Amino acid sequence: MKNPKVLYTEEEIQLNIKLLAEKMNAFYNNEEVYVVCVLKGAVMFCTDLVKHLNMPVKLEFIRLSSYNGGTSTTGKVNAVDISLPDLNGKNVLIVEDIVDTGLTAKFLIDFLNCNFHTKSTKFCSLLDKKTARKADIEPDYFCFEVDDKFLVGYGLDFDGYYRNLRYIGYLDGDEFERA
Ligand code: IMP
Ligand code: MG
Repeated sequence: MKNPKVLYTEEEIQLNIKLLAEKMNAFYNNEEVYVVCVLKGAVMFCTDLVKHLNMPVKLEFIRLSSYNGGTSTTGKVNAVDISLPDLNGKNVLIVEDIVDTGLTAKFLIDFLNCNFHTKSTKFCSLLDKKTARKADIEPDYFCFEVDDKFLVGYGLDFDGYYRNLRYIGYLDGDEFERA
């Protein structure tokens, strides 16, 4: 298996997560937050992020998928498991690995709006691929704006592999380029 080229090191990622958590700590001002981690990609980011949050936190996990093992979205978001507690009146913070087309983010925000009257709904993504956007959506929080390249590591996968890397990287070679 190829070694991805490093885009963001473990140190850069961890530093940016701490800075992001500080912003959140200031915004929520010790109010309780329901953090909704979008599996599988956001697992590393979310578990590192919540360790720096100071307010009372409840951690929920949902599982979505939109890829079939390739490097581009099928365009259809599949809710593998979206069971959530009653979020009426709660502060909800969705945590994703990357916003690409934005279809997943839009699906989730619409889902929350249809099912709950939350106190607040914020969307946080480790990475933001702004140039790939199809849905009109921007994350409220993100760590890094990235080019339209297929990235792996720190939760992000190619065909299920590379999630365990401590850094974020990219694979060069035609098979990984977006068409
Ligand atoms: P979107 O719905 O197109 O915004 O894509 C969202 C999902 O696609 C993310 O949650 C990721 O799981 C996956 N994804 C998008 N870009 C990449 C990438 O560069 N590497 C790995 N997964 C990606
Ligand atoms: Mg994801």
